[in-house]
Amino acid sequence: MNISVVILAAGRGKRMKSGMPKVLHEALGMPMLQYVIDAVRPLKPSRTVVVIGNGADEVKRRMDDDSLSFVLQKELLGTGNALSIAKKELKKGAVLVLNGDCPLITARTLKNLLAKHRRNKNLVSFLSFIDDSVTGYGRVLRDGSGKVTGIVEDKHATSGEKRRCKELNGGVYVMETAALDYLRRIKKNLSSGEYYLTDIVGIVSGAGKRIEAYNCPPEEISGVNTRAHLYQVTEILKKRVITKWMDKGVTFIGPDTSVVHTSVSIGRDTVVYPNTYLEGKTSIGKHCVIYPGARIRDSIIGDGVTVKDSTLIEESRVGRGTSVGPFAHVRPLSVIGCNVKIGNFVEIKKSRLGDSTKASHLSYIGDAHIGSNVNIGAGTITCNYDGKNKFETRIETGVFIGSDSQLIAPVTIGKDAYVAAGATITKNVPSGALAISRAKQKTFENWTKKRQRKVNKRK
Ligand code: UD1
Ligand code: CA
Repeated sequence: MNISVVILAAGRGKRMKSGMPKVLHEALGMPMLQYVIDAVRPLKPSRTVVVIGNGADEVKRRMDDDSLSFVLQKELLGTGNALSIAKKELKKGAVLVLNGDCPLITARTLKNLLAKHRRNKNLVSFLSFIDDSVTGYGRVLRDGSGKVTGIVEDKHATSGEKRRCKELNGGVYVMETAALDYLRRIKKNLSSGEYYLTDIVGIVSGAGKRIEAYNCPPEEISGVNTRAHLYQVTEILKKRVITKWMDKGVTFIGPDTSVVHTSVSIGRDTVVYPNTYLEGKTSIGKHCVIYPGARIRDSIIGDGVTVKDSTLIEESRVGRGTSVGPFAHVRPLSVIGCNVKIGNFVEIKKSRLGDSTKASHLSYIGDAHIGSNVNIGAGTITCNYDGKNKFETRIETGVFIGSDSQLIAPVTIGKDAYVAAGATITKNVPSGALAISRAKQKTFENWTKKRQRKVNKRK
């Protein structure tokens, strides 16, 4: 049976107090609209139409996805008006209509709703829930026999309706295309100037057609209207994501303080300590340990990697068995090999480090190509910037760079060469050579005593 989907995402989102369209606000690294799109995908809809209006171009650009079609609601005249604009895009069959601001909805609940809708041959079905602690939702009206007779928006409900009607509208509807003809009958609400989609419920019911509301878990249809709602929704998503990875064999030591974005993946037997952030399109291998204070964004971390305390890794790759940190910063476009050691206070930017290379302490490595089995001594700096341009440093396999050296790029250190500690290297060092650049040491014996005598004489 054919299903089309319409996602209403044109609204202003006034209550967010934001310059950005509401549906683009992110929860765990993903716009809330994307969650809704992902939830409908398993239903294999023949079309997914997104109604855009406020910040239309921005929403379209961000959702760049060939499976979606966009229709523009030029004037934001309410949810009823939004659906009538999408109508021309729809094929005959069932139409699933959702608000774009309900990121917690699941495919399972949507499938259940569709199944009940079909089983009962309804013209319209929608999700409702009972939660005394929330406000701002439409209230479902039923008659004495329990038949749905309408929906009244919270702000227009009388105190009697508020007292009697505890069932709230979830904003998720299934309608047969025949029901869409009733959209024309929705009248503009005089106090708000909007056409309420919810009015279709009273109209269809009044016409004697089959309409039913089905209860679902309140959590799933939390609509995000304010930043406080966004926070509440994010808290629920956080738990969902971490529980999923625990179920797949990942240990979390402080799950309440770890933040794992929806698009992250984590391998089995990895241990994640408290206060850690795994963000964006990050993938963490098996048997890794991620210690407190680490933040890893858009990076690929191989198996058996240790990321020690207070380390930031961005848009980079880290090979199997490598250890990074504590207090290290791996900046974008770095590719770090296997069994590498990157230690305390090391910053790496746009560099490649070969297998088994070590930079254990206090270094800056930028725009460098470093081979395997290289030892970078404490305090080594690649001087890659002359104030205008960036230059590359090449360090070939097996090189030993003594502590406190500066490598003034562009420069190449050949295979198996040694750079003695404290060097300022301005010229290429050939393979197998030793380069020393330091002032010769002079030693003055008994200097301290002599100095003291001079001082005493002066007194
Ligand atoms: C809506 C329902 C309410 C329900 C609640 C569930 C109406 C009139 N009310 O209220 O009964 O309990 O959702 O979360 O439908 N939008 C457009 N074009 C418009 C106006 C809105 O596309 O002209 C979109 C918004 O971007 C949003 C969705 O429709 O994604 C819902 O709009 P919103 O203003 O959030 O409605 P609520 O007041 O939450
Ligand atoms: Ca809403």
